[in-house]
Amino acid sequence: MSEAIHPDISRVLIESDTLQARILEMGAAISRDYGGKSPLFVGVLKGVLFFLADLLRAVDIPLEVDFMAITSYSPEMLEHGLVRITKDLETSLKGRHVIFVEDMIDTGLTLGYLLKLLKARDPASLEVAVLFDKPSRRLLNITPRYLGFRLPDQFVVGYGLDYREQYRNLPYVGLLKAEVFQRQLR
Ligand code: IMP
Ligand code: MG
Repeated sequence: MSEAIHPDISRVLIESDTLQARILEMGAAISRDYGGKSPLFVGVLKGVLFFLADLLRAVDIPLEVDFMAITSYSPEMLEHGLVRITKDLETSLKGRHVIFVEDMIDTGLTLGYLLKLLKARDPASLEVAVLFDKPSRRLLNITPRYLGFRLPDQFVVGYGLDYREQYRNLPYVGLLKAEVFQRQLR
């Protein structure tokens, strides 16, 4: 597949083919581990949309999916546990095998907060599948059961990840040119 690079991208870190190949492996691992369990996949909008859609198509056992949405990322709010749920799940977690799917763990504060909240709803099991991990910035000790890629401590966009709501639809993950950040300040 040929990909014209977006003019705001300085460097592609992970090509589309590489993303898709890894996601196929993650889906196969989940299918092996959850045979006969009909897991419930839970995603937090919006960043996870692309990963979740591809991951679910790589899983070949019966499954269900549900979504929640929270107020946008703010470190100050997270430190005080003030994450507001703007859309809650429609499915009860009680007795279910839940796989929580996230695009990115950075500090881990968002994930830590949400896992605590989901655990309180009494699932039979709760595991995490994350596509991107930035381990150097971690504040909470969280080890995802399924992990796609480790990333350096740099701000990236594409494949669901945004800068000011843009670039989510890029099929690869890349770095933005410095001028893009300056442009926004004018
Ligand atoms: P944390 O783990 O609580 O620090 O937050 C992780 C969330 O921050 C992710 O779900 C992303 O929405 C956002 N995030 C962290 N790093 C990046 C990045 O490099 N690009 C875009 N969003 C990011
Ligand atoms: Mg996010």
